[in-house]
Amino acid sequence: MERLQKYLAECGVSSRRKAEELITSGAVMVNDVIVTELGTKVSANDVVKVNNVIVDKEEHVYYVLNKPVGYITSVKDEKNRPTILDLFEENDKKYRIYPVGRLDYDTAGVLLVTNDGAFSNKLTKANYEVEKEYVARVEGLVTKLEVLDLKRGVTLKTGYKTKPCNAKVVSSDKRNNTTLLNIIIHEGKNHQVRLMCDAIGHPVKKLTRVRVGNITLEGIPKGCYRRLKIHEVKEIMGR
Ligand code: URA
Repeated sequence: MERLQKYLAECGVSSRRKAEELITSGAVMVNDVIVTELGTKVSANDVVKVNNVIVDKEEHVYYVLNKPVGYITSVKDEKNRPTILDLFEENDKKYRIYPVGRLDYDTAGVLLVTNDGAFSNKLTKANYEVEKEYVARVEGLVTKLEVLDLKRGVTLKTGYKTKPCNAKVVSSDKRNNTTLLNIIIHEGKNHQVRLMCDAIGHPVKKLTRVRVGNITLEGIPKGCYRRLKIHEVKEIMGR
């Protein structure tokens, strides 16, 4: 049994708040009886209608996309730039799918996409411990001390001090004066990795997220995606 407004939101009818408005306005019927009480509970056996149309619970789908640079992590863009949904086939977009968290327009790599609100909420909650691994090509030659700063936490220009993380130099390119860094964080502040690298004086030239939890880019060409297996979904949810 679950609350009617939650059920409607999960069916993809609307947000939970809008569903409450639908219920109180008398647009929702359960087993052909108008229900206006918000606490009403329903089960899979109940027939729920909105404006006389039956709503069915959507199957939950989970994808991992290898996001290329040059796509907005959103379902729409007011400036009409390409969005990550443009990379999905029509048949895979029949559900109201959306990205879990964000990757910058200029960042490539692992992006989870789903229509499961609970999954998305859990993974984007500030204190959820899912690891996010990045590979960053940065300007200049990064010293051991600077790596230590990253690991201990740095103060971003926003004033936020980052939590301890894992960081290491993968390789240094003396000729081009750049360093390849591997950084694993558990947080997801806006532009966090770019701001962390700015904070140690090494702006990012190129950024790729190579892993979220147990999900990597393995076998997924740039711009392509695959469905997650159910055990992968369970693992990343920590069950
Ligand atoms: N950190 C960033 O700076 N950008 C991203 O897209 C993801 C993490």
